[in-house]
Amino acid sequence: MPKLEGKIAIVTGASRGIGRAVCDRFSDEGAIVVMCDRNEPDAALLHRQHFRRLDVTQQDDWQALAQEVSSTFGTARILVNNAGIVDYAPIIEVTPDAWKRIMSVNVDGVLFGMQAFLPQMIAAGGGAIVNVSSIWGSVAVPGAAAYHASKGAVRTLSKNAAMTYARQGIRVNSIHPGIIATPHVVDVQERSITDAVIAKTPMGRMADPRELANGVLFLASDESSFVTGIELYVDGGYTAQ
Ligand code: NAI
Repeated sequence: MPKLEGKIAIVTGASRGIGRAVCDRFSDEGAIVVMCDRNEPDAALLHRQHFRRLDVTQQDDWQALAQEVSSTFGTARILVNNAGIVDYAPIIEVTPDAWKRIMSVNVDGVLFGMQAFLPQMIAAGGGAIVNVSSIWGSVAVPGAAAYHASKGAVRTLSKNAAMTYARQGIRVNSIHPGIIATPHVVDVQERSITDAVIAKTPMGRMADPRELANGVLFLASDESSFVTGIELYVDGGYTAQ
């Protein structure tokens, strides 16, 4: 039996990388997937995948999306807040604009997504939210100050949401990728940081995005029905050291 048969799932940052892998894994399991991104998908959509253009920093657009999803498809039971951007500047060099840009996408986007979809999940009696943080939401490397701060915020905001809405049938968990082979990693100039993290990863390699998607599937599906407020590390053992 498919794990998400007929369930409506919202995924942000869905056009490439981890988000796309999550959407394809959800489709394998029978979900109706609403793929949200500010850019067009980088590959053709599969059966029951629907693209919606969304900039996660725009609260009004989130509210409009929630209404449109509800009237077009029905109640969303799964929300994956995955869209995120990186900046490698250390504290002394980070500009106010860069700080605000990172916080706006990585933190405001997660807040606005939960604000938009929690009411319909609560009204329907339950839902599962997965927020994508990072190993850098709980441990650090030098530099990337705004990114670390933003991913730490995603980690504790997820726990707060889990506590606040547990009695209404809502489960909220964060997932913490190590280095995953996506354009986010492969295109960056700061390859030296990436290589250093891979060298310190006990399993000695990057992950395929599908390995991260399997963790998101677990947290989004009823297989994790008694799991809320956790941090799931998919990091090849990096944070166990
Ligand atoms: P990516 O850069 O390959 O894909 C990110 C997607 O998000 C893109 O399609 C982009 O258009 C979209 N996006 C960016 N800003 C947006 C906005 N304002 N509104 C809507 N969509 C927007 O990134 P990747 O690697 O797939 O990362 C996904 C998530 O995983 C991010 O939150 C990232 O911080 C996190 N992560 C990734 C790691 C990695 O090694 N790839 C490691 C740890 C965390």
